[in-house]
This record gives sequence, structure tokens and C-alpha cells, in this order.
Amino acid sequence: MKGLILSGGKGTRLRPITHTSAKQLVPVANKPVLFYGIEAMAAAGIADVGIIIAPETGDEIRAAAGDGSRFGVAITYIEQDEPLGLAHASLTAEPYLDGEPFVMYLGDNLLQGGITELVASFRASGPDALILLTPVDDPQNYGVAELAGDRVVRLVEKPPDPATDLALVGVYMFTAGIHDAARAIAPSDRGELEITDAIQYLVDQGRRVEPHIVRGWWKDTGRLEDMLEANRLVLDRIEPRIEGELLDSQCDGRVVVEAGARLERTTVRGPAIIGAGAQITDAYIGPYTSIGEGCVITDAEVEHSILLECSQVTNLEGRMESSLLGRNVKIARGVRQPRAYRFMVGDNSEIGIL
Ligand code: DAU
Repeated sequence: MKGLILSGGKGTRLRPITHTSAKQLVPVANKPVLFYGIEAMAAAGIADVGIIIAPETGDEIRAAAGDGSRFGVAITYIEQDEPLGLAHASLTAEPYLDGEPFVMYLGDNLLQGGITELVASFRASGPDALILLTPVDDPQNYGVAELAGDRVVRLVEKPPDPATDLALVGVYMFTAGIHDAARAIAPSDRGELEITDAIQYLVDQGRRVEPHIVRGWWKDTGRLEDMLEANRLVLDRIEPRIEGELLDSQCDGRVVVEAGARLERTTVRGPAIIGAGAQITDAYIGPYTSIGEGCVITDAEVEHSILLECSQVTNLEGRMESSLLGRNVKIARGVRQPRAYRFMVGDNSEIGIL
């Protein structure tokens, strides 16, 4: 069985971060979302993993995940020229998959508990497809399933008026028959070959599509609030570990301070992670915060936030919360007169002022 991780697409909902970087590389608890998927594959015993990449962000994904050896898998990169849909991505990977059954994992999804049991169940019962479902509050934003007992009867992509609250989770198991299904369907209104429609085609052809309701949590990290929530869920289970230097500082609860980080006159209230080489001085880091490598925080309070590498937050009067900062971002209280806000921010940025 092979693995296929979809790490192409555009990531429009996470702009401006995704103007310069792939959304699958935004970190959750200081680890790119994509790596959780690769690790889940490795844990399930899948040795060959294909990663779908887009021309714009492919190099960055290659550089981050490499040949896969550090995860214990062999990675093959497969370029999809245009983001024409999840079923189109599976067709692009058809030569790589070479008729084998495969797990398809959306590179921006996080699934607690991994896929090991699901892969075993797929191997044991041998359906044409296995899909994962979970109840959500906003089914109109996902593929939605209707069941009759334990049979899948209908799947609709992002229905304005959903028949159930059962969302399709972005992890699927398929036999090679999915490629014929992908060839048989037409593009949706958003111009994509939808995997949801391809699975519906299997249902219509009388093929066996097995539904599984996921028990643990699942997150599609496509939007800021989902990203922060995923960060919260992962940090909630992090093993405390202090390897950096603490001067006159205190860490309460689940806190990781990586080697080379330096905290001075600072309180960290976990769950939180402070990346290697971060310098945090006269600061408060509150729960559910991930501070990336090399960040500098001075005279400031930060909570429920994700800061990517080398960002700086200095001398804030109010607490910064529920924020996502990209790389090398600087936020500081100005000392010059006149007292005024001074910004240099990219397209699609969002700023909340006290
Ligand atoms: O997250 C679960 C949902 O994922 C499902 O409930 C939906 O049925 C499914 O269509 C999908 O919806 P999204 O609209 O959230 O998919 P998105 O465009 O975000 O793409 C998911 C991943 O696949 C993302 O990592 C980008 C990648 N991708 C996407 C497209 C359209 C590709 O690699 N190639 C593509 O052509």
C-alpha cells in the first residue's frame, strides 16, 4: 500500500502567510502540519509516500521534507501543474501509484490518533474505498455524507443546505478504481474534479464504500481559527521538557523550551512551546502559544498564538492573543514622535488595534 499526501493547492484562506509559503508548512506546536501526515503514514507501516506539490511552493516543500529518510519513508514528489481538484491530484499520481491501493491524506489536515488502525481495517475488509466522517458544526464548509445504517448513500461537496452534519475528513483509502471514477466525473461549479464526486461515482456503480466515524479530534487547518485550534489541541498533549536557559524565569504546566532558547524574567504558563534560539525577556507567554525558532519577545505578553521563525514582539501595552505571525515579522511600540501607528504589512493582512 502506498501513501499520497496532497500538498499542492493555493491556501487562499491563510493569506498573507501563504503569499510566501505553503500552507502545509505552517507549524502546529512548531512542527509543519505536513509532517504530522508523513509521520502518521510511517507509523502505519507505509514505506512509500508520494507528495503532490504545486509549481509555486514545491521547492519549499521538497526542502522541508527531503527524501523522507528522517521519517523512515521514501518520498517521491509529484508536480500538479494546476490545482484542479483532489480527484485531479489522484489522477496526476496514477503513474506513481501504479495500480496499488493507497491512503490519500490532505496535507493541511491533522488527525488525532493517526491512521494505523484504519489502514489495518482497510487491509482486512478490502472495500473499494474507506472514508472517514465526523460530525461538525459547519458542514456546509466540507464534503457531507448521508448514511443509511452503515452504508454510504450520498456525498455532496460543500452543500449550501447540508442533509447531515457528517463531514468528510481529509483522509481516504482507495483501490486503483478511484482513478476510473476520477476520469468519469465532470468538474464541479468551482472548476475542480472533486474527490467527493469520484467517491459518489463508486457508490453509484455499486462499489463498496466503507464509512468510519472518527473518534478523536480532527482539524482542517485551512483557516486561522482552525490553525490556532489545532495548535491548542496538539499542545494540550505535549510532554514538558526544558532544555533552554531560564534566568529568573518560571514555566508552569506543559512547557517545552528548546535548547538554545533563553528566558529572562519571564513567566510561561503552558501548554506552550518555545523554539530553539528564542530570546524572551520581561515577558509573559500564556497558554496555547507556539514561539518559533529565533523569535525575540521583549516587554510583551503573548497568548493563544503562533509565531513563525525569527519574529519579534517588543514593548506592547496590551496582551497579544489569537494571532498568527509569519516569519521575520516585527511588532513594536514606537518611541518616535508623533505618537502614531506605523505599519508595513503585506496584502490580505489583518490587524486588530486596542
Ligand atoms: O479537509 C476536509 C475537506 O477537504 C473535505 O471535507 C472536502 O470534501 C474536500 O474537498 C477538501 O475540501 P477543501 O476545500 O478544504 O480542500 P482544499 O482545497 O483545502 O485542499 C485540501 C488539500 O489538498 C490542501 O493541502 C491542498 C491540496 N490540494 C488541493 C487541490 C484543490 C492539492 O494538492 N491539489 C489540488 O488540486
